[in-house]
Amino acid sequence: MADLSGKVALVTGAGSGIGFDLAAELARQGARVVLGDVAGAERAAARIGAEAALGVQMDVTDAGQVAAAVEAARSRFGGLDIVVNNAGLFTNITRASFADLPLDEWERVFAVNVTGVLHIVRAAWPLLKRSGAGRVINITSATVFSAPPMMLHYVATKGALTAMTRSMAREMGADGITVNAVAPGYTLSEGVLARSAGAEDPQQERARNARAIKRDQVPGDLTGAVAFLAGDAAGFITGQTLVVDGGAVMH
Ligand SMILES: NC(=O)c1ccc[n+]([C@@H]2O[C@H](COP(=O)([O-])OP(=O)(O)OC[C@H]3O[C@@H](n4cnc5c(N)ncnc54)[C@H](O)[C@@H]3O)[C@@H](O)[C@H]2O)c1
Repeated sequence: MADLSGKVALVTGAGSGIGFDLAAELARQGARVVLGDVAGAERAAARIGAEAALGVQMDVTDAGQVAAAVEAARSRFGGLDIVVNNAGLFTNITRASFADLPLDEWERVFAVNVTGVLHIVRAAWPLLKRSGAGRVINITSATVFSAPPMMLHYVATKGALTAMTRSMAREMGADGITVNAVAPGYTLSEGVLARSAGAEDPQQERARNARAIKRDQVPGDLTGAVAFLAGDAAGFITGQTLVVDGGAVMH
């Protein structure tokens, strides 16, 4: 157990999917949590409970809305210690060869998966500095290592976020802030299940077969890694990427 009592966390994209499970786990470990999402944030926070959770409707591509979510953490819970950058476009992206990917789709995925994180860390930095033990956890992807075809825009954004994790770790270390990445494998999140609409996506079987541990990955497989990186025990770990995928890729 990572004791997160007294800590305040902001989890983006927490209205559903992996983000909700991460927010619920941080709350279970004692943190008070702001759940930010373009949709369903208030409903998701209500599932955790009003004492420990606040839902804020926000789009990570909008710097003003991001600043308002960070301010909500301060005014409701008194500060901010942990940021989990989970919001990302994955389940609804266009799958196509790099040769055919529409440029506006490329830019849309970068706006959320990369620039959105920049907005969040810029807005959160003053409060993370004040915390004295700030934590930034970026949800990247094992695709950075496995390099699947037909999703160059997505893999490129997660590669950029991996590089940002390292550079931000160097810049923020002087303030006692750690910055790490958790890289999930193919995970049966709400979005993934909705896209496959009951039938098994061929990617699911490929993912299972590629793993050392041959089973499907679920959001609950990621919660322990994120809670650990958020806690005091991980205070001397920074700039790292922890792949959580049942041992498909190893680095
Ligand atoms: N599911 C997987 O197989 C998998 C694998 C590796 C990495 N990931 C990463 O994990 C994260 C969560 O994935 P998921 O499968 O739960 O996705 P999902 O589509 O189920 O959920 C994503 C959440 O982010 C929110 N969101 C989207 N755009 C947003 C924006 N502009 N501002 C704020 N919120 C926004 C959505 O409303 C949704 O609640 C993503 O960053 C994804 O890239 C997922």
